[in-house]
Amino acid sequence: MLAVGRGQITSDGPRCARSLREQQAVGPESVPPGTAIGCGDEGKSVNSKTGRQRRQPGPSRTEVEVVVESVTITDNRNGQTIEIPIVDGGIAADQWSKLLPGVWFYDPAFMATASAESAITYVDGDNGVLEYRGYPIEQLTKQSTYLEVAYLLLHGELPTAEQAEKWVQEITFHTFIHENMRKRFLEGFNYDAHPMGILVSAIAALSTYYPDAKNIFDPKVRHKQIIRLIAKMPTLAAAAHRYSVGMPFVYPDNSHDFPSNFLSMVLKTPESRFDANPTLVRAMDALFILHADHEQNCSTAALRVVASSQVDPYSACAAACAALYGPLHGGANEAVIRMLSEIGCLENVPAFIRSVKEGHGRLQGFGHRVYKNYDPRAKIIRDIAYDVFDVTGKNPLLDIALGLEEVALADEYFISRKLYPNVDFYSGLIYQAMGFPVEMFPVLFAVPRVAGWVAHWVEMLEHNTKIARPRQLYVGHRRRDYVPMSSR
Ligand code: CMC
Repeated sequence: MLAVGRGQITSDGPRCARSLREQQAVGPESVPPGTAIGCGDEGKSVNSKTGRQRRQPGPSRTEVEVVVESVTITDNRNGQTIEIPIVDGGIAADQWSKLLPGVWFYDPAFMATASAESAITYVDGDNGVLEYRGYPIEQLTKQSTYLEVAYLLLHGELPTAEQAEKWVQEITFHTFIHENMRKRFLEGFNYDAHPMGILVSAIAALSTYYPDAKNIFDPKVRHKQIIRLIAKMPTLAAAAHRYSVGMPFVYPDNSHDFPSNFLSMVLKTPESRFDANPTLVRAMDALFILHADHEQNCSTAALRVVASSQVDPYSACAAACAALYGPLHGGANEAVIRMLSEIGCLENVPAFIRSVKEGHGRLQGFGHRVYKNYDPRAKIIRDIAYDVFDVTGKNPLLDIALGLEEVALADEYFISRKLYPNVDFYSGLIYQAMGFPVEMFPVLFAVPRVAGWVAHWVEMLEHNTKIARPRQLYVGHRRRDYVPMSSR
């Protein structure tokens, strides 16, 4: 039996609210059920919207009165119960285990499991809200730059002018890759290799060039790898593209800003200097901001699991990048373009929607595990698309996309399942109009997502997270004797 209850308690400074992570570290024995569990300098409040108990950063309080929400779990086999407080919308699994040792929470796709406590990105899927460190994504895409956002994700605050200058300079001077990486490694791929396959391997290969990266608890070494990863991603991504289309490698030109440098490495042909159209540069930077982080998505979860083994950050980011390669994650924008091309014209939209509803494939770029409303990134990208099309000319697939969106948003199948356009629905149209082949789309997602991966990596190390090691529910054979081949 699982009951939800509320209890009134009074606590003073040392006994005020403690986060779930801190509860886990201290251990369940020190946390009597029904007690508000806390640390010295954090207050508690109840979120008026969700009714959830929420930790408040702020000065320490000597006396705090809090309403604690809790669940009570009863083991019907023996009548024992345990009351577990709900903190920040979660309950600590180790408290559950205290009552039910050996009974595992079965949740294969983490549908109801919070795998981390994080202060980086806030997503409210029901209301279509996305914030990085508290700043709304709409303001960041309009007013900030990708490099500033990367700083924000990592450091928790926007940089001062001096910090920003140092940060941009550090990144700008780490854009080059080792010459052997280009000559011996990247040139070794087959002429038609998928650029995302090249990128995944190239990120992993970086760890062999920087063996000091394994000293992950040395703050200076850690900082150096973060700079290298953010700085070299555009160079590797552009190289992956150039090799996959048989074009020569373009060296970084550090007189450019970050997005212009990337576009130069991708698009430059015979010019001695390539200056992309400023509207396209701004669009690229805004797309980088939009893709920089999205809390515990598949690739970030992969990064956290792999990095929890204390491997170097290149290996962990390569694993994350591999997760991003999949069609249900970073590969979806590629799938959207293929789908729109197959639909071919507006007249075919109703028949396509019918076939999706009959179970023949999915409407690519629709639906999200967290957003049960319009993905705020999709709205911003749709606006960016119009700016880009003013320069490049309209992508002819846009009308099919708009038609699909209109039909789907009015259809009971999509309404009842809360399926709305996600970040990938319109981004591919922009990339295609800018001249990127579809194979490059997941690569364009990966370039800025590295900022999110390293921010989560640092946060995880600072939280001293244990190695990720889930349990399983074993449903196979138990012990049986080996049968020789002749008797099978
Ligand atoms: N088209 C048609 N039906 C869908 C779709 C879709 N795009 N997405 C979900 N459904 C249906 C699904 O068939 C199921 O129906 P029913 O309840 O009748 O079985 C219901 O909606 C719930 O779907 P689900 O697969 O249980 O949802 P999920 O949270 O496991 O999957 C998703 C989320 C994003 C993988 C899924 O919506 C999907 O496959 N979308 C298309 C691919 C896509 O656009 N991916 C990009 C995601 S955003 C970028 C990122 O963050 O990586």
